[in-house]
Amino acid sequence: MLKMTHLSKVYRTEVVETYALRDFSIDVKEGEFVAVTGPSGSGKTTFLTIAGLLETFTGGEYLLDGADVSGLNDNARSKIRNEKIGFIFQAFNLIPDLNVFDNVEVPLRYRGMKSAERKRRIMDALERVGLASRIKHYPAELSGGQQQRVAIARALAGSPRLLLADEPTGNLDTQMARGVLELLEDIHREGATIVMVTHDPELAARAQRNVHIIDGQEVDIAEEPRFHADHATGSHA
Ligand SMILES: Nc1ncnc2c1ncn2[C@@H]1O[C@H](COP(=O)(O)OP(=O)(O)OP(=O)(O)O)[C@@H](O)[C@H]1O
Ligand SMILES: [Mg+2]
Repeated sequence: MLKMTHLSKVYRTEVVETYALRDFSIDVKEGEFVAVTGPSGSGKTTFLTIAGLLETFTGGEYLLDGADVSGLNDNARSKIRNEKIGFIFQAFNLIPDLNVFDNVEVPLRYRGMKSAERKRRIMDALERVGLASRIKHYPAELSGGQQQRVAIARALAGSPRLLLADEPTGNLDTQMARGVLELLEDIHREGATIVMVTHDPELAARAQRNVHIIDGQEVDIAEEPRFHADHATGSHA
């Protein structure tokens, strides 16, 4: 479903060149639930933004559902995003002047879905995150964790085939974090492919497969840590 080969992403300013990803390869099969871990600054968010067609890349190849996405223009990219990808990103924020209901509706509007069907999906998604009683609230009238749950409902409402989550439980207490993980597991059982970045080893352990990124490269944690010995702390042993 999501296959990157020797991918690189270089951020250039006048003074520095940062390789956010270098020679990065990954193959996520349809229906997999993959957790992505790695130190801060290692390239996890960069990987997800490229995977979600929010960013372009510098070199290498990215096939999404078998199709090379490198030549696509902005329109084609947003069409694919709206049709098949759901995002649970901290930077992919709610729209402040839309209430909860309208925020969740945004991605559905792109699909030409009938209003009754949109309403059913929105209420269903908000019930799943425990916010059905907040549909008239504006983002500023919600706690950080509630806002995050609205963003999760927005991602769920579109029944995306591919769900990309960047620290989906980052602002939540333990109980709420478990609830969100259970939700992701439900969606996974319903057939979605999930790629989740997390710092939480307990969450990562619940995924089918873990991918570890260090310095913009995937590192196989099952192997002896022969790369980047300076990062090879006890946690890899
Ligand atoms: N827009 C940008 N311009 C320049 N450099 C960037 C930009 N975005 C990210 N980087 C650099 O790319 C590298 C990878 O960043 P990224 O956000 O992918 O890390 P991360 O693994 O998600 O970290 P964290 O766990 O802290 O969220 C970092 O060194 C960062 O400084
Ligand atoms: Mg990040």
